[in-house]
Amino acid sequence: MLSLFPKTLSSSFHPKTLIPNHKPSNLRSLTAIHSNSHHETERNFKFDTGNTFFRHESATGRDLAVLAATLHKKSTGNLRVLDAMCGCGIRSLRYLAEAEADFVLANDANEECNGVIVSNLSSVSSAGEGRWKVSHAVANRVLAEKYVEREFFDFIDVDSFGSDSSFFRMVFDTVKIGGLIYVTSTDGFSSGGHRPDHSLAAYGAYIRPLPYSNEIGLRMLIGGAMREASVLGYHVSPLFSYYSYHGPVFRVLLRVNRGKPPHGIHYRFIGYCESCGHSQAISWVKLGQIKCPCGSDVPDSLIVCGPLWTGPLHCASYLKEMRTLAGEWGWLGDGTKNDLDKLLNRMIDESDPNLPFGYNQLDEIASRAKVNSPRMVTLMSAIQQNGYSVSRSHISNNAIKTNCPMSECIRITKEIQNA
Ligand SMILES: C[S@@+](CC[C@H](N)C(=O)[O-])C[C@H]1O[C@@H](n2cnc3c(N)ncnc32)[C@H](O)[C@@H]1O
Ligand SMILES: [Zn+2]
Repeated sequence: MLSLFPKTLSSSFHPKTLIPNHKPSNLRSLTAIHSNSHHETERNFKFDTGNTFFRHESATGRDLAVLAATLHKKSTGNLRVLDAMCGCGIRSLRYLAEAEADFVLANDANEECNGVIVSNLSSVSSAGEGRWKVSHAVANRVLAEKYVEREFFDFIDVDSFGSDSSFFRMVFDTVKIGGLIYVTSTDGFSSGGHRPDHSLAAYGAYIRPLPYSNEIGLRMLIGGAMREASVLGYHVSPLFSYYSYHGPVFRVLLRVNRGKPPHGIHYRFIGYCESCGHSQAISWVKLGQIKCPCGSDVPDSLIVCGPLWTGPLHCASYLKEMRTLAGEWGWLGDGTKNDLDKLLNRMIDESDPNLPFGYNQLDEIASRAKVNSPRMVTLMSAIQQNGYSVSRSHISNNAIKTNCPMSECIRITKEIQNA
């Protein structure tokens, strides 16, 4: 078994993350506490989380990852996975069992995870079969070693905490061209615009508070990855972007390819006018001419953030393939709490190329219109009848994505409410 013991852990590994799984201890049986064994079940797989960091709520993020990894295996015939921060190894287990990965390297800097990872992976395939290895290095070290050994991966999953982006460069060095990277941020303070210096350092984006900050979190992560990819002459294309309020967690699946992006420059600034609620994308060449079309003379009413990804959050055709596969596996409408059907459908709707970044909360529209909130379906159908595109948002239940300007949304809302 490969074992890469670091003499010291890098600054990006925080011992405080070594807290046991986040279940209130009073929910654990006494036997479990004494044995340090915590048995869980996910998609019919039984596994042990021991004292590792584990969240049930991340199951949907794992479902999406497994679907994507399986599509990769089906389309290319290959699937070598690096699960760089694997915790108890649940993702590695699922990549092996469900996506039928040829090989998985399950890494976690915390050596104390070793027993549970080995035991979980052994339940799928014996160590002797050589389909998996376990290592305990900081992610950058294991990535660098694989790069030097010229052992590249089809799928690299980095389930990191906070706004750690220090591994981006090594991920791009170690992923195969055409391969996939699944990266994470859990930094809701940065996406909410409360730590602009921090988001600037981590993702190169100065983020200020916006009404659609949870979408900004995804865009800041994609933008940060794009910037690092371009240093090496690569570009990334988002296949899906997933926000979950548990955490919060921002996850994006990106395909890595050589050269400049075929989709043009969707790496811009975002302007939001607090006076009128209008949002606009601002290109680099227009930076000197930023003003809101409403002509507001309210000082500081225009909030500008960026640069970040302003293109589509997902690829609709890819999501449709994921939905088909999920259907074949009986994962749609299966009565589980994580309603994958609804999520994938919302994401597909959001992928309409006519829809810009951001979303409008119904409450914001109603408050600007000075009327009660209209019913979601009524407003959406009225917006469509006025010739605009509109969809729900997978991020916020009470919001719409639309290319209908805020001033028009207000007018339509007043009409609905007969104001
Ligand atoms: C969010 S948890 C992983 C959860 C797991 N992927 C899952 O789906 O259940 C993050 C893990 O990363 C490990 N870790 C933290 N910093 C690391 C680093 N720099 N390199 C490698 N592992 C690290 C922690 O020990 C922790 O187990
Ligand atoms: Zn304005």
